[in-house]
Amino acid sequence: MEEELHHHKAKEYQSSGVVPFWPEHLLKEMVVGFTALLTLAIFAHFNPAPLGPPADPGDWAFQPAPDWYFYFVQNFFDVGGYYWSVLGLTNLDWVLMFLIPVLGIALFYAVPFIDRYPERRLLKRPLMLGLMLFGIASIGYFTANGVYNHDYLVAHEPINILQTSCENCHQMGNAGNTSGVYRLPDGQYIYPPPLTHVGSIMSPDQIRRQLVSPVGGMPNLGLPPAAVEYLVNYLSQQK
Ligand code: HEC
Repeated sequence: MEEELHHHKAKEYQSSGVVPFWPEHLLKEMVVGFTALLTLAIFAHFNPAPLGPPADPGDWAFQPAPDWYFYFVQNFFDVGGYYWSVLGLTNLDWVLMFLIPVLGIALFYAVPFIDRYPERRLLKRPLMLGLMLFGIASIGYFTANGVYNHDYLVAHEPINILQTSCENCHQMGNAGNTSGVYRLPDGQYIYPPPLTHVGSIMSPDQIRRQLVSPVGGMPNLGLPPAAVEYLVNYLSQQK
């Protein structure tokens, strides 16, 4: 009976030009999936990826960074987090970090139920094609942005960060603001000391503290931790 039913169904499918999900569709997917997995396993066995250094909980300057192909995830949260805080939503971080990604993934699973349009040619499905291209473009954008941000920190020597972020206020040797005074946008005057010999006046810890939670009218520049460490290292050598 069941055989017959299946047979009947198969005929019906054939005459309507529809491919049944099982076994035609799913079986093929499984074969491809297992082949890919097996290939990967064999490759990994003969060409094992090296491990990084063991985790060091005492290394607080450690910059967690994903492998480049996940930069887009990190950068999405970096950029998203920035605008989130601009919108004053910092105490709703869980919406950005949890709810939005989970809803996004749920939506992926829901696509076959929402989009039941039988047309298979891409050009006849502008909405889905558009969404897909938008997704790919977004991943490309956030990856590129992530590479840029990463390279920015790696490539920018402390001396460059000093020039772009500090020397409008501070004197550094013959460079920078040699007047010893700086006028803030609100009209208030502050008196940034020269940093030329700061390494003989301040310990690395004191320099770090001034950068992370500045006192005396110096603004908090919101430097990324890696930049702070570059600067602490460089400045404490300026004796
Ligand atoms: C808008 C002006 C301004 C900018 C920009 C600025 N600072 Fe300052 N900085 C100050 C002022 C004012 C002080 C003096 C604080 C005080 O009186 O205790 C100061 C103090 C310091 C000190 C302590 C120096 C000492 O001798 O007491 C360090 C170190 C320092 N800044 C480093 C930096 C670095 C590095 C940057 C760039 C990443 C930077 N500052 C950017 C205004 C600025």
